[in-house]
Amino acid sequence: MPYYTPLRYPGGKRRLATTIMRLLDANDLTDVEYCEPYAGGAAIGLALLMEEYASVIHINDLDRAVYAFWYSVLNDTTELCRRIARTKVTMREWKRQRKIYELRETADLTELGFATLFLNRTNRSGILSGGVIGGKNQTGEWGIDARFGKPELIHRIRKIGRYRSRINLYQQDALEFTKRVIPNIGANRFAFYDPPYIENGAELYLNDYDIKGHRQLADTVSKLSGAWVVTYDYSAVRHKLYRSHRRIAYGLQYMAQGRYEGKEVMFLSKGLRLPQTWSKMLPVPMSAESSGHPVYGMIEDMKPHPKMVEGPEAGERFVNALRTVLSVPKSSIPQPFHKPAKKSKRSVTRKG
Ligand SMILES: C[S@@+](CC[C@H](N)C(=O)[O-])C[C@H]1O[C@@H](n2cnc3c(N)ncnc32)[C@H](O)[C@@H]1O
Repeated sequence: MPYYTPLRYPGGKRRLATTIMRLLDANDLTDVEYCEPYAGGAAIGLALLMEEYASVIHINDLDRAVYAFWYSVLNDTTELCRRIARTKVTMREWKRQRKIYELRETADLTELGFATLFLNRTNRSGILSGGVIGGKNQTGEWGIDARFGKPELIHRIRKIGRYRSRINLYQQDALEFTKRVIPNIGANRFAFYDPPYIENGAELYLNDYDIKGHRQLADTVSKLSGAWVVTYDYSAVRHKLYRSHRRIAYGLQYMAQGRYEGKEVMFLSKGLRLPQTWSKMLPVPMSAESSGHPVYGMIEDMKPHPKMVEGPEAGERFVNALRTVLSVPKSSIPQPFHKPAKKSKRSVTRKG
């Protein structure tokens, strides 16, 4: 899947685009109106639009800096591309753009849109408030311009600009957007929620949520008609969010005592059909299998399996899948499906 978005996002969801496409196919959802209430880089929305799964996309982000970027792409494409082409990517420029970003609540939208792109492409992991690639003294292995490929950025932005009549942009709180905008979008819609993570989400991007806010969102989304999925870090399961919904745990890692837990989880709306080839027993491909680091997940019902105790054949399949995910030798993965041998009461042998 090509990169369509010009923005980098920590934990960006581009790798899940193929999973969403499979879900749409399995539900005969074609030409959907796609809604992304926490758009960020809108990686999935753009993929669905440009691969012609979506007729229209509705992208929303409360952060004025992120909104300003998309506003510039859609309404000021030529000027944005001109700025990319003529701006020198230096520390001096970084400091200038950083000042504009600091005044983001009042800055001119086109100025701010460029500042957002500049900082997103020159900061570590694309974090707008983060540090610059290579450090302030530029002594690191990579320089400030390492991720600022001008021709490619201009190409992506021009391409999105050509789709502007099929992209609707909003700057609203996601909860309001869910209550007031989504229900008025046609019935043939699909909503993808990627809210800030519950754990470790505070410094990465705008995140005003506490667990009460996450619960409020879960209550509202659960009642939403139509097809939707929500992605989270796995602590959403521990906090019992979306507890009556099916989920797929992915980014699997070994915990302890033969137990596996996903690093992330995707909750699914009730009517959504799963592709026939997906079964609870099998790891589900979440990303394109041909990608360098394919991601697999396991379908869980309402609650996660506390222990995966299955037949040895299932264990073999699971270990093989994990080996692919983790790229480690088979021998180093503990066997999850073997019941531990019972301890003998007479394990201590006394001599004499
Ligand atoms: C996890 S990121 C989304 C990343 C995106 N899925 C991608 O792949 O690029 C979360 C986004 O939600 C936005 N956000 C945070 N709180 C919000 C809120 N209450 N309403 C709407 N957007 C919000 C942040 O600005 C951030 O861009």
